[in-house]
Amino acid sequence: MADQLISTAVHRELPGSYVRPESQRPRLDEVVPDAQIPVVDLAGPDVVSRIGQACATHGFFQVVNHGVPLELMAAMLAVAYDFFRLPPEEKAKLYSDDPAKKMRLSTSFNVRKETVRNWRDYLRLHCHPLEQYVPDWPTNPPSFRDTVSAYCREVRELGFRLYAAISESLGLARDYAEKALGEQEQHMAVNFYPECPAPELTYGLPAHTDPNALTILLMDQQVAGLQVLNQGRWIAVNPRPNALVVNIGDQLQALSNGRYRSVWHRAVVNSDMPRMSVASFLCPCNDVLIGPAASLVTEESPAVYRDYTYAEYYTKFWSRNLDQEHCLELFR
Ligand code: SIN
Ligand code: FE2
Repeated sequence: MADQLISTAVHRELPGSYVRPESQRPRLDEVVPDAQIPVVDLAGPDVVSRIGQACATHGFFQVVNHGVPLELMAAMLAVAYDFFRLPPEEKAKLYSDDPAKKMRLSTSFNVRKETVRNWRDYLRLHCHPLEQYVPDWPTNPPSFRDTVSAYCREVRELGFRLYAAISESLGLARDYAEKALGEQEQHMAVNFYPECPAPELTYGLPAHTDPNALTILLMDQQVAGLQVLNQGRWIAVNPRPNALVVNIGDQLQALSNGRYRSVWHRAVVNSDMPRMSVASFLCPCNDVLIGPAASLVTEESPAVYRDYTYAEYYTKFWSRNLDQEHCLELFR
């Protein structure tokens, strides 16, 4: 029901359904505030080895000089804010809690399964091929379709350039990942985290790994919220001007036979300002068979995961709660 959206009301107190049990709270005072995830200048030297290093150590990195026009990034964030400022009745028309829908406005993560809610509203879109999906996208704000389509095209191209570098860094042919994962689907989550009256009691998104292959995240430049687990500690990823955040998803961890890491990350909220993030996901098509690249399976490093289809993986992922064991553990 649309009245479950948190962005349609003003909240002076955190409703009880969002309060985590003591042992599951974010412990914000223990987060490392100023740690850096690697930054890779895509127009600079040693791009392939720097990306390889980042994927193996952090599973996360920021890219600059990435080719996505900066004004398009700004326009994407602006239209996202305008969308969430639409009147409640306009947003209500788009609401659904059915994860199978290819365009929907929803809240929390998966309200059909959760016992505790997350302080997030989100718009989820399928984005490839654009001609197929754009006709179902919101018509308001008026620039929504054009801006988001243009952004999706640019991000897709960047994703394939990153696939090439990631493949090469694993000693594979540059087109390995793109070919092995099949014609890529592309999804987007536009995440809106309103100001929260009690950020220490809840999450925007609790710890999870991404089920897709590669994620490219456009973050609000004004306010931080993304945190990444590194060597047992949560580190805050502070927004970096003009950068995009990239992370390895579960499928690239499987393809790399565990060399590259799809790491736990989470979004925390704050009481001062709302925050927006726009996550673009490249996902294998449903029927493609995924498994470790043959040349990465040797006597010393046998296959860590069995082969499976993405459809099987995705169904399993959505049937669980977000913050359980790493979903890939179920495919050993
Ligand atoms: C995500 O993990 O999908 C979103 C993280 C964020 O909002 O920064
Ligand atoms: Fe994520």
